[in-house]
Amino acid sequence: MKLYNVHKNSGGSLSYASLLEKIEFMRSSLRWAQKLEGPEVQKLLNQTNILREEVMQLSHKDRFLQASSEKGRKTRKSTAAERRQGLLDRDFVFEGVFGESPKLLESLEIAEKAAPTDLPVLIDGESGTGKELMAKVIHTNGGRAEQPYISINCGAIPENLLESELFGHKKGAFTGASSDRKGKFESADGGTIFLDEIGELPLQGQVKLLRVLQSNELQRVGSDQVTHVDARVVAATNRNLLEMSQNGQFREDLYYRLSVINVTIPPLRERRDEIPLLFDYFTDEAAGNLKRRPLQFTPRLRTFLMNYRYPGNVRELRNLIFRMSCLAGDNADLQHLPDHIRPDVPIQNELKSNIPLLERRLSEVKKEASSEAEKLYLEQGLMEAGGKVVALARKIDMNRSHVWTLLKKHGLKVEDYRKEEKKSV
Ligand SMILES: Nc1ncnc2c1ncn2[C@@H]1O[C@H](COP(=O)(O)OP(=O)(O)OP(=O)(O)O)[C@@H](O)[C@H]1O
Ligand SMILES: [Mg+2]
Repeated sequence: MKLYNVHKNSGGSLSYASLLEKIEFMRSSLRWAQKLEGPEVQKLLNQTNILREEVMQLSHKDRFLQASSEKGRKTRKSTAAERRQGLLDRDFVFEGVFGESPKLLESLEIAEKAAPTDLPVLIDGESGTGKELMAKVIHTNGGRAEQPYISINCGAIPENLLESELFGHKKGAFTGASSDRKGKFESADGGTIFLDEIGELPLQGQVKLLRVLQSNELQRVGSDQVTHVDARVVAATNRNLLEMSQNGQFREDLYYRLSVINVTIPPLRERRDEIPLLFDYFTDEAAGNLKRRPLQFTPRLRTFLMNYRYPGNVRELRNLIFRMSCLAGDNADLQHLPDHIRPDVPIQNELKSNIPLLERRLSEVKKEASSEAEKLYLEQGLMEAGGKVVALARKIDMNRSHVWTLLKKHGLKVEDYRKEEKKSV
C-alpha cells in the first residue's frame, strides 16, 4: 500500500518531523477508533509501526550522509593518493590491499564511517570483488570487534532448515532436533551477523528475518520463549535487490531495512591500478602457503594480466596466481595460464638457432635478437591494445600500414589477441 511511497519521496520535500507527526496522529486515531473491527485495526497498527520504524532508519541514514558529506566537503581537494594515505593513517584496518580508484576509496570511506555505528550495511558488487572481506573490515573497525562475527550463507541452506539455522530450535521441534540449539543470531549477540548472499533468501525466510530485525527479538523454532538479541547486521549480495524488490522477488521493506548504509564494491576491471598491488600481495601469500620463492612474471605475462578483464574479479586473480605459483616454478609465462584464457600466441622467447652462440657471427646474433625484440614489442602492444591495430599504431606512434607490415613479417595474427576479450564478455 501507500507505505512504500514514503520511501520513494523521502529524498524530496517530505520532512521527517511532519511525517512522524502524521504517523503519530494516525496511530492515536486508530488506537481509539470505535468503528473499526479488531483484525483491521491490528493490521493497520502494525503497518504504521513499521512505517515509523522505517522513517527513523531513514533519519539515521540522513544524519549519517550529512556528516559524511560535511567531511567530504572539507577534503574535496584531496587527491586519490591522499585519500588512500588518510585511510592508512587513521589506522583503518583492511586485511588486504587497496589502490587509488576513486570508486573504491569512496566505498572504503563509507565503510570506515559506518563501522563504528550499529547501522545495518548492505554490501553489493560482482562475484569475487571482496564483499566478504569488506564485511569483516566493517566488523573489525567497529566497537564490536572483540565480539563474535558470525557469517551465514543464505543461499546455501535448505529452506526447511533456514529458520532453525538463523534463530535456533527447541529440542523436539522437528524430526532430528535432538537437543536445544541456538541459531546464528543468538551466537552473534553483542557482535555482528553477516548475511551473505541475502538475495537468495526465500520469501518466507525474508518475512521471518524482517520480524527479528524490527523487534530485536526472536523465538527459537518450537519455543514460546522470546529472546532479546543485539546483533549488528551486515548483508551482501551480487544481485540487484532493488530491482528484485520491484519484481516482487525480494521484500521491499526488508531491502530498506538492510540497506541503511550501502557499500558498493567496483569490479576489478574498474580499478586496475590495484592489480600490481594484488600481484605482490598474492605472490607473497602463495609463496608463504606453498613454501617457495615468490613467483616472477615475464613482461608479456604481466602485460596480459594487467589487461585481462577478470570476470571473476579479485578471486580469479588470486586463483590464477596460486595456480601459477604451484605449476610454474620460479618464472611464469603465458603458457602457465589456464587454457580458457591463454592467448594463442606462439610461446617462443629464446634465440631460434641451435648452433652454440660463439660459433655464430655476432652480426647475425644481433640481427636475430633485434628481430625477437621487435616481435616481443609488437606482441605486448597487441595484448594491450586487445588486438586493435589502430590503437596499437596510435600508442607506439607508428604508421598503421607499417604496423601491418611488421605484424605480417613476424606472423602475428590480430585475432589471436582478441580471443580473451571475446571469451570474457
Ligand atoms: N582488496 C583485496 N586485497 C586482498 N585480497 C582480496 C581483496 N579483495 C578480495 N580479496 C580476496 O579475494 C577473494 C574473494 O573475496 P570475497 O570472498 O570477499 O569476495 P565476494 O565478493 O564475497 O565473492 P562472492 O560474491 O563470490 O561471494 C578472497 O580470497 C579475498 O580475501
Ligand atoms: Mg562472498
